[in-house]
Amino acid sequence: MTENKGAFRLDGKRALVTGGASGIGEATCKELAGAGAAGVFADLNLDKDQSLAAGLPDATAVLMDVTKLDSIEAVAAKLDRLDILVNNAGIAHVGDIAHVEPDDFDKLMEVNVKSVYLVTRALLPLLLKSRGSIVNIGSVAGQVGIKQRFAYCTTKGAVLAMTRQLAVEYPKELRVNCICPGTVQTPFVEGYLDKYHAHEKEKMREQLNARQPMGRLGKPEEIASLIRYVCSDEAEFMTGSLLPIDGGWTAA
Ligand SMILES: NC(=O)c1ccc[n+]([C@@H]2O[C@H](COP(=O)([O-])OP(=O)(O)OC[C@H]3O[C@@H](n4cnc5c(N)ncnc54)[C@H](O)[C@@H]3O)[C@@H](O)[C@H]2O)c1
Repeated sequence: MTENKGAFRLDGKRALVTGGASGIGEATCKELAGAGAAGVFADLNLDKDQSLAAGLPDATAVLMDVTKLDSIEAVAAKLDRLDILVNNAGIAHVGDIAHVEPDDFDKLMEVNVKSVYLVTRALLPLLLKSRGSIVNIGSVAGQVGIKQRFAYCTTKGAVLAMTRQLAVEYPKELRVNCICPGTVQTPFVEGYLDKYHAHEKEKMREQLNARQPMGRLGKPEEIASLIRYVCSDEAEFMTGSLLPIDGGWTAA
């Protein structure tokens, strides 16, 4: 948790972070709490969510499946105010088009794309009331093609498009931005290495490092810092922006 009494404060704001129990979401919950925001951490993994919330001031853990409207609405019904929504929950898939089964494609679209629509729509009245800030977590995968990531790149392209669309529809009522990380050291990446490259993890880790011209993976805290900035009053002029944070990947 970064303590900073000066810039990028979020005192008095309430933030909801989906997928808050792990990786980028977890780091974001800590960063926003450190900036003074009250946090609602929403995840499928309630145990992890609760232990995270217990260690932070003014934080609440809630069970939310971002693919299920009733689950989302149950959380929305308990909120009377919301200033920040971070649509972060997401899953990965590896395969070119020939190796993406229809069920896998549907699942990825549900968790990575439809969820952003469902959660944002359910919380929109509160966000409009507060002239809130939405931060969608996209990926470089929404900006460039990546071998063996047909379904994942498709979903992240849609997240970028939804960001632009909302910014165009509500230019004065909301701020909506999208952060596009390169590869970040989280359980998402460890899960990929375990599942697809258990026998050659370190070799593959080197290849993942090399995708970023900087030669390393990003840290979840680095992504969380940018999310905090984007939500802050200092970023008041920013909406509809797609912000790479990728060690130089998309500059190449
Ligand atoms: N790690 C990376 O390299 C990387 C790079 C670019 C973008 N991203 C994106 O960042 C986001 C977070 O990734 P991460 O690396 O922190 O992943 P992670 O696997 O560490 O965490 C994802 C969290 O989302 C939760 N989640 C999954 N499905 C859910 C559902 N249906 N409802 C509620 N919660 C659900 C999981 O329980 C988990 O806590 C994702 O959208 C991912 O696509 C990650």
